[in-house]
Amino acid sequence: MPIKIENINKPRSEPNMDDYCSTRRKKFSLFSSSHSTSRFSVYGLISSACILTLFQIHMLLFSRRQPNASPITFLPLKDLRFAATPMDGSTWFMSALNDTHEAGEAEHLLFPSYASHHKLLCLAGRDRSNGTRNSYALAPRGSLPEGAKLLKGISFVSDSYYDYENLWHGLSAVVPFMAWHGRKRCEKPERWVLYHRGELRVQMSPWVSSLIEAVLGEEPRIEDYAEAGDGPYCFEKAVVFRHNEGEMKGKRKEMVYEMMRCKSRVSCGLLNGGEGGEGVVRVTLLLRTGARSFKDEKGVLNVFHSECRKVDRCRLTVARSDNLTFCDQVKLMTETDILASPHGAQLTNMFLMDRNSSVMEFFPKGWKQLAGAGQFVFRWIAIAAGIRHQGAWHDPVGDPCPYADNSRCFPFYKNGRIGHDDAYLTNWTSRVIRETRDYKLTDGYRTTRRRLRTETCLCSAKEGRRS
Ligand SMILES: *[C@@H]1O[C@H](CO)[C@@H](O)[C@H](O)[C@H]1NC(C)=O
Ligand SMILES: *[C@@H]1O[C@H](CO)[C@@H](O)[C@H](O)[C@H]1NC(C)=O
Ligand SMILES: *[C@@H]1O[C@H](CO)[C@@H](O)[C@H](O)[C@H]1NC(C)=O
Ligand SMILES: *[C@@H]1O[C@H](CO)[C@@H](O)[C@H](O)[C@H]1NC(C)=O
Ligand SMILES: *[C@@H]1O[C@H](CO)[C@@H](O)[C@H](O)[C@H]1NC(C)=O
Repeated sequence: MPIKIENINKPRSEPNMDDYCSTRRKKFSLFSSSHSTSRFSVYGLISSACILTLFQIHMLLFSRRQPNASPITFLPLKDLRFAATPMDGSTWFMSALNDTHEAGEAEHLLFPSYASHHKLLCLAGRDRSNGTRNSYALAPRGSLPEGAKLLKGISFVSDSYYDYENLWHGLSAVVPFMAWHGRKRCEKPERWVLYHRGELRVQMSPWVSSLIEAVLGEEPRIEDYAEAGDGPYCFEKAVVFRHNEGEMKGKRKEMVYEMMRCKSRVSCGLLNGGEGGEGVVRVTLLLRTGARSFKDEKGVLNVFHSECRKVDRCRLTVARSDNLTFCDQVKLMTETDILASPHGAQLTNMFLMDRNSSVMEFFPKGWKQLAGAGQFVFRWIAIAAGIRHQGAWHDPVGDPCPYADNSRCFPFYKNGRIGHDDAYLTNWTSRVIRETRDYKLTDGYRTTRRRLRTETCLCSAKEGRRS
């Protein structure tokens, strides 16, 4: 429920103990007004539990005592009334605020703006485990809540239903901000404010952080409020994305992925467009260890080896996703035309290959029937980044699910190992290698490659600016 806080600026009578813990306004006013030493003696009578409660409420609710200011209302950052449909409409994060929609763009909230009635966004949101304990409010710039600290510059505020650790989830959260950077004259944030279901997050995976650094030219500064004091903080300017890519359309995605690909390569010291002569086909088998690894790795390798050997100037690289730095991954992808790999976060790297490169994806038993839309995420990246998704292998072999309840079967299959079929894999690999070889001999490929080598990235260093 919304908590409404009135601005109180009138002298009050001596509070009595019942009032302290019964009405919110009194609790609040006690702390927001100046009190005499004699009033403090009254505090001594109150149980410490009550003090603690009051103190916690004080942490959440603030108001400036200004005679003519309208009330500032703090609302829970995560609104449990929408727990059943957390990502629909205005979502459960800042649920009272409507998104601004622009054709082809991810929907966003901007503060201050016409939509925010020119008010700033203020947050009292340090809780890292319970989003309903965090809160937000809108305040006029000249009348911020009491004790609020104004954070200068533009802040990128994100809420993700997923997380910032997994490569694919992290990328999804970051893409709309990259798009903002690319289309708002390369605007760079002063800080990133990250929420996961309304809970504060102060870390993202090193890969995601490296990607941001490559694109923006500086490490992301993730706000932890260590320096902001106890009060709420208001943002001079903030843009909020809470739907990941949301309504972003293909054309914008293409721009963002192109920028991320180009800037990642440049920041890792590589040539955009990569090495490797015409007609060379570079196949990379990116292996996993443990979950979703191949049952017969050697057998899979043999098929790739023998099919690659049949095509002039085909080169096979075998790599493992463990222990590769961001730049190792960028380099590997820049030098790959065909990426073959089990379904997993390492496939997120595919957008770092040239456009029109190919991906071959492998799934263990059970995914096709039980994984729902989640199994298609790498097809979505492929579409967004202009990569050819060359289909998926679904291993039909494996132990049957021992549970009657289907919801327990996906977890049973999820991280299974992947078997293969020699004949099928041979046919598939052979087709993709030959197709790639033929494409790389076309004039279209040569022209694209020449263009890429001379182009500078969108928002290259000179253009970067801070608002
Ligand atoms: C948000 O949109 C809904 C539906 O269009 C509207 O009823 C509501 O008043 C809007 N809320 C705000 C805060 O603008
Ligand atoms: C989260 O905090 C709210 C408000 O303090 C409380 O009612 C709720 O039980 C908490 N939820 C969890 C899961 O701890
Ligand atoms: C990855 O690095 C860890 C620690 O540095 C090491 O124990 C492990 O063997 C490495 N794995 C591979 C596949 O190199
Ligand atoms: C591969 O399979 C397709 C049908 O799926 C078939 O038409 C084609 O002849 C096969 N190619 C080889 C080399 O076996
Ligand atoms: C992409 O590659 C395929 C062959 O692999 C080719 O048929 C197609 O024309 C290429 N598309 C572009 C835009 O170059």
